[in-house]
Amino acid sequence: MKLSVSFLLFLSLFVSFLFTIRADTKSTDSCSSNEAVSSLVPFYSSSFHCLSAWSSQSFVLRYARTDTNKWSYVLSAPDTNAYVGIGFSHDGDMEESSAMVGWFDSSSKGVIKQYYLGDMESSACPPDQGNLTLVKNSTLIAMHSSTIYLAFEVITDQPTPYLIYAVGHPGDLPSSNYYLDEHHDRATAKFDANSGIINGAGSSSGFTKARKHSLLVILGWGLLIPIGAITTRMSIICLAKRRPYSDTKSYLRSPKDTTQATPIL
Ligand SMILES: *[C@@H]1O[C@H](CO)[C@@H](O)[C@H](O)[C@H]1NC(C)=O
Ligand SMILES: *[C@@H]1O[C@H](CO)[C@@H](O)[C@H](O)[C@H]1NC(C)=O
Repeated sequence: MKLSVSFLLFLSLFVSFLFTIRADTKSTDSCSSNEAVSSLVPFYSSSFHCLSAWSSQSFVLRYARTDTNKWSYVLSAPDTNAYVGIGFSHDGDMEESSAMVGWFDSSSKGVIKQYYLGDMESSACPPDQGNLTLVKNSTLIAMHSSTIYLAFEVITDQPTPYLIYAVGHPGDLPSSNYYLDEHHDRATAKFDANSGIINGAGSSSGFTKARKHSLLVILGWGLLIPIGAITTRMSIICLAKRRPYSDTKSYLRSPKDTTQATPIL
């Protein structure tokens, strides 16, 4: 088997590239440190439950039933210069659910809004609509140590049995009409109001990012060893073309794909 030095170099660069993709999802927040959240969110108290809600994106969710029919939430996520969102779903699907989405715009101003997620199209997900009855003046967005905190309170007897999470593409912030571009990654988790999350969040394809990457690496080596250098080179090119998230179901499309995205200001 003839493998040139430059090819081996290329391969090692490729493998290390696969491992560095997820290095941007570090958060300073965790369930073991509550100082930041208690200084930022007026309604937060130590009686909140806390979970590592979506570990591959370092989402942390704190929540509590703070009155008979009032539920209070604080979602924190690393700032990747993208929107972060949490949706409330009856069946685990994004369609016909309502979500709270927030981001910091280019002038570092925080935006937090409710969205109605009608279907996969961006134009079907209007801002300032949805079925969550929010407690007036409870919603807030804050940034602390490169972590975004989204806080809000909802009036409901029983929260929906599923939570969905989403994060936008790094650097791709919503424009002035507030419509959202397609997410970078998303996840669904079953939520039991009394005991908390039953199933942790997995990415929509059923593989976590870490597993997808290790699968790509295994595929890379599996092809490399038995087959000759030319085939390997071709396979590596195919793998490189296959973006890690390309099999993730599209759920918020760019308004550029559609014509009906009317600004709601
Ligand atoms: C939820 O909100 C959307 C948008 O505001 C609305 O069209 C829909 O009828 C609402 N659904 C329910 C069950 O209230
Ligand atoms: C709404 O929240 C802001 C900031 O916490 C506070 O200054 C203001 O007094 C609140 N308004 C009402 C009506 O509670």
